[in-house]
Amino acid sequence: MNSLFLTFEGPDGCGKSTQARLLAEKLRSQGYDVFLTREPGGTSLGEAVRELLLGKEYELTSSAEALLYAAARAQHVEEKIRPALAKGQIVICDRFVDSSLAYQGYGLGLSLQKLREINLFATSGLEPDLTILLDLDPQIGLARARAGRGQTDRIEERDGAFHKQVREGFLDLARSQPERFAVIQVEGLPPEEVEQLVWTRVEKLLGKQRGTFSCNKMGVKS
Ligand code: TMP
Repeated sequence: MNSLFLTFEGPDGCGKSTQARLLAEKLRSQGYDVFLTREPGGTSLGEAVRELLLGKEYELTSSAEALLYAAARAQHVEEKIRPALAKGQIVICDRFVDSSLAYQGYGLGLSLQKLREINLFATSGLEPDLTILLDLDPQIGLARARAGRGQTDRIEERDGAFHKQVREGFLDLARSQPERFAVIQVEGLPPEEVEQLVWTRVEKLLGKQRGTFSCNKMGVKS
């Protein structure tokens, strides 16, 4: 099975949605079957939950917030991501469990252990093969997000200390699983350069996968 599960992570405004789209286009141009999706979202339930989470209509407690992200994720994994992987597609997901650990754990101060438990339940243990973390000073990212959309959502409106903890959280997670994470410092880089750095990392993974695949076919490696 040649499926792969790739995720993009990073502080708000780091450019990951653009990079996820560019990577999907590049892979498709090379003949790969790609499913590009995002969190929160990716299903009709997930998109409705996204409105609840990012809109300003409700005051959410921290635990309600964490559970809503996990609920949207549970639906997404079962309805879309696992079936796409089962078909052999390359799944590119714009944010996944690491965002819950960084935002609700490091940012809001919820227990990382509890977050891991609810997310293990939500994902039934699905983990990305590779997570690309685009690292950027959150002040720059937030200014970019504001300039791009002209408005901010509920999470973006949190203070600078929150966003700084989120960034540190992502870097901490990357340090704890260096084999899964590729960290790219994007400050001052144009999107084309970031795209190239992302591609170098993904190409390496595809090469490894091809190696395993041909070895399997020859019966050398199980
Ligand atoms: P996006 O704008 O990058 O699509 O992400 C939506 C916002 O939701 C962003 O501020 C990060 C936040 N978020 C969490 O706080 N926890 C999560 O688990 C996810 C997936 C996103």
